[in-house]
Amino acid sequence: MHRVYEDGGREIVLTIFRHNPNDEDSIPHFQDYPIIERPGMTLYIALTQIYTSMDHDVSFDFVCRAGICGSCAMVVNGKPRLACRTLTSEFSEGKITLLPLPTFQHIKDLSVDTGTFMNAMTKRVEGWIVNNSPQDISTIEKPIDPELSDEIFELDRCIECGICLASCATKVMRPNFVGAVGLNRVARFSLDPHDSRSDEEFYELIGDDEGIFGCMSFMGCQDHCPKHLPLQKQIAYMRNKMVKVC
Ligand code: SF4
Ligand code: FES
Repeated sequence: MHRVYEDGGREIVLTIFRHNPNDEDSIPHFQDYPIIERPGMTLYIALTQIYTSMDHDVSFDFVCRAGICGSCAMVVNGKPRLACRTLTSEFSEGKITLLPLPTFQHIKDLSVDTGTFMNAMTKRVEGWIVNNSPQDISTIEKPIDPELSDEIFELDRCIECGICLASCATKVMRPNFVGAVGLNRVARFSLDPHDSRSDEEFYELIGDDEGIFGCMSFMGCQDHCPKHLPLQKQIAYMRNKMVKVC
């Protein structure tokens, strides 16, 4: 039973995975950090408090603190989540165990390198507008249908946090799988009228087991995506298009 203070503060314990793979003397272990929870406390606030007042050596990643940059993803009591958008009060037992995201290269403690994967994935799926037809910059660009624009914007909300990959059993079996983040990216450009690529050209990029035919529909990506993107719908949409090509 955790102590509750008169001002509403509650004693909670964060159990953090500690390991530095670059230090040959480092032994992986868990370390407990008891702190007083205050109203509205997020895991970001709790970790910052631990860092500033208890342990300067604990490593974790944050940039925006607002669910936008995607850098604070970690495994919280067994589920991948954004630490800056997770309230400690969600855990009624007051015990919170934190691990780094699996799948990505471990840097230290809760910090992982998602950038190397995202960069390689972007190159692999050519995740940018491709249009080889001659452009006349003196003419006004044709407006996009507002409904289509909303649909593209919806897919553009991906923050590349890596949670879909950390939730994906296919990724464990197929290390080079581009994941929901990559397939969502292709779906986004295939919808965009500014992109002139044909379905055959998209097939060249993702028409294999590391792309659209690799997904086994375990649904972990959609269950955990913090932006609630319609990932399975987009994967089904792209698979349907790609099956017609082959
Ligand atoms: S699709 Fe969702 S879970 Fe995957 S990287 Fe984008 S925002 Fe994160
Ligand atoms: S710190 Fe940017 S998403 Fe959490």
